[in-house]
Amino acid sequence: MTGTSVSNTSHALNHVAIIMDGNGRWADSHGLIRSEGHRQGTKNLREVVKAFADEGVSFVTLYAFSKENWQRPRNEVQNLFDLLVESVAQNLEGLHQDGVCIQHLGDKNNLPYEVREAIGHSEKITQGNYHVTLSVAFNYGGRAEIIEAVKKIVKDSIAFSDITERVIEDRLYTSAIPDPDLIIRTAGEKRLSNFLIWQSAYSEYYFTDVLWPDFGKADVQKAIREYKNRKRKFGALES
Ligand code: IPE
Ligand code: IPE
Ligand code: MG
Repeated sequence: MTGTSVSNTSHALNHVAIIMDGNGRWADSHGLIRSEGHRQGTKNLREVVKAFADEGVSFVTLYAFSKENWQRPRNEVQNLFDLLVESVAQNLEGLHQDGVCIQHLGDKNNLPYEVREAIGHSEKITQGNYHVTLSVAFNYGGRAEIIEAVKKIVKDSIAFSDITERVIEDRLYTSAIPDPDLIIRTAGEKRLSNFLIWQSAYSEYYFTDVLWPDFGKADVQKAIREYKNRKRKFGALES
């Protein structure tokens, strides 16, 4: 949904994507082990999604596990998988009540059975909800996503002269959702870390030093206020 379809309503905030960073540092600063930081980082999910929905945001995307996160120690990777399963068990009912439709972005292939089951279950239970779409990027990599799209294009025998932005977008994990208007990254780092690299072409960025487990409703409102002060031009002149 990019390219020529870009809207010129510069303050519309339809889709917010979040790089949830700083769980490890949060644990460190509380004298806890990293897994406690990751656990704490699942407790604010419903509040944050609800806070965005209350502000009229229809799409929220969370970066929960990157393809590159496999490089972490085995026990941390396993802990993140366990937490995804636990978090679905704990949050699914509340999110469902809030009218949230959950969808997964990423590669399901090499994830353990329990993780695939938890994702599939949450997608199935919430598929009829339309208040807000919550996309969970888990085992997600932006470059891998583009490679997958290119492979599909070849498989679909699309002619060279028919390749357009739309042809690529239709084959990304995000084909059903608009590009993010705002990308938030917590914990002070200022990089994308392979997140939505195609879709972020014209996104606004908001960086905060707040560590993800401490991020709550007030931070949501602060980010939105800042976004509303930005001028988006999409390459055109200001009107
Ligand atoms: C974000 O927190 C969660 C994941 C990347 C899975 P980190 O684990 O990256 O926390 P820091 O960066 O070490 O503080
Ligand atoms: C990005 O955070 C991935 C997620 C939030 C899931 P990282 O902590 O893995 O990113 P880098 O390694 O600091 O770039
Ligand atoms: Mg990090």
